[in-house]
Amino acid sequence: MSLVNRRVLLVITGGIAAYKTLDLIRRLREQGAAVRAILTEAATQFVTPLAVQTLTGEKVYRDIFALTDESEMGHLRLAQEADIVVVAPATADMLAKMAVGIADDLASTALLATDKMILVAPAMNHRMWLNEATQANVARLTMRGIKCVGPNTGSLAEGETGPGRMAEPLEILSAIELLVADGPLKGRRALVTSGPTHEAIDPVRFLANRSSGKQGHAIASALAHAGAETVLISGPTAEPDPLGVRVHHVESARDMLKACEAALPVEIAVCAAAVADWRVEPAPQKIKKNGGLPVLRLEENPDILATLSRPGNLRPRLVIGFAAETENLIAHARKKREAKGCDWIVANDVSPAMSTFGSDNNTVHLIDANGVEDWPPQSKREVAASLTRRIVDFFAA
Ligand code: C5P
Repeated sequence: MSLVNRRVLLVITGGIAAYKTLDLIRRLREQGAAVRAILTEAATQFVTPLAVQTLTGEKVYRDIFALTDESEMGHLRLAQEADIVVVAPATADMLAKMAVGIADDLASTALLATDKMILVAPAMNHRMWLNEATQANVARLTMRGIKCVGPNTGSLAEGETGPGRMAEPLEILSAIELLVADGPLKGRRALVTSGPTHEAIDPVRFLANRSSGKQGHAIASALAHAGAETVLISGPTAEPDPLGVRVHHVESARDMLKACEAALPVEIAVCAAAVADWRVEPAPQKIKKNGGLPVLRLEENPDILATLSRPGNLRPRLVIGFAAETENLIAHARKKREAKGCDWIVANDVSPAMSTFGSDNNTVHLIDANGVEDWPPQSKREVAASLTRRIVDFFAA
């Protein structure tokens, strides 16, 4: 019951995915949310107002000019008496209207009139989704702070395949929880580093580290889900920015350190990035091959984990590092915990036999002042969830 006392205004627009929205309503109510729904005219072609009314247990709103609606519940009140407004499915048409501020029916008027958080779950044919117009509209909405969940890639209603499937009801539910639920870490600030860093050799070449960012991004997402105000400092990765997390994109270790220091004070710091240990003074122009073998003079990069762990006013209460080792995992990780001064180390075996890099799975051990906990093999998401539970327990104790 994560959404007790939360009020969701659900805008259902006209797409075949609207049938899944019925399931979303059921799940929202199971979590204790009160749901009011607005249907566009087109939506009523896909789901009946009676079905929506039965599931929400509330009157369904459709017509801006219906006098009874206006006397009982004006569109402005409808828009304001919600903790979050969710548009699911959000058609290309509705996204376009929202992007430019058209208000020509009850749904679009309520969306223009609200200053509450808005979450959209786009659903449409993949060509409509990929169309520059839709992409530009979504970019505009995102810039205004509107959150977007999905769409997913898969089979579409007309027998085609591509991006455009509405996110599943459980994914939308999870996004709503992230945005409005009170998690156990509510009121706490967290900082997570993730991904590799790139150290320029010249304008086209760089030194890098083998890291997909999957583990760090999953941790940022899990902390945000637990209610922490989370900042993710990410090196270059292919991972999408997690929903509900403030993301700073950086390239080099020195930029990553600067961004971390700017994010302080925080109570929780998790350094999951594979920071390049060395950098070189970058050549201003591309180094040419005919000039003989270039010599790279390596300089040591700052150690972000050790810097954050240093005693002082700004030291986070809980600093967690990672130790990726290919041999003597526990012994090396224990030493690392002491050398860096962090509170916990998550040790993982990255020997080629474990194929941890880039994979979705991870076998880790948590090392703190009391000893070592061996965790079973888990997905990186599960490792993130387990770590977050441990963090919650730490602050509860
Ligand atoms: O020393 P090593 O790279 O093995 O330590 C790993 C841990 O230290 C990770 O938590 C990593 O994010 C952090 N680290 C860092 N800055 C560096 C090197 C490592 O924060 N320059």
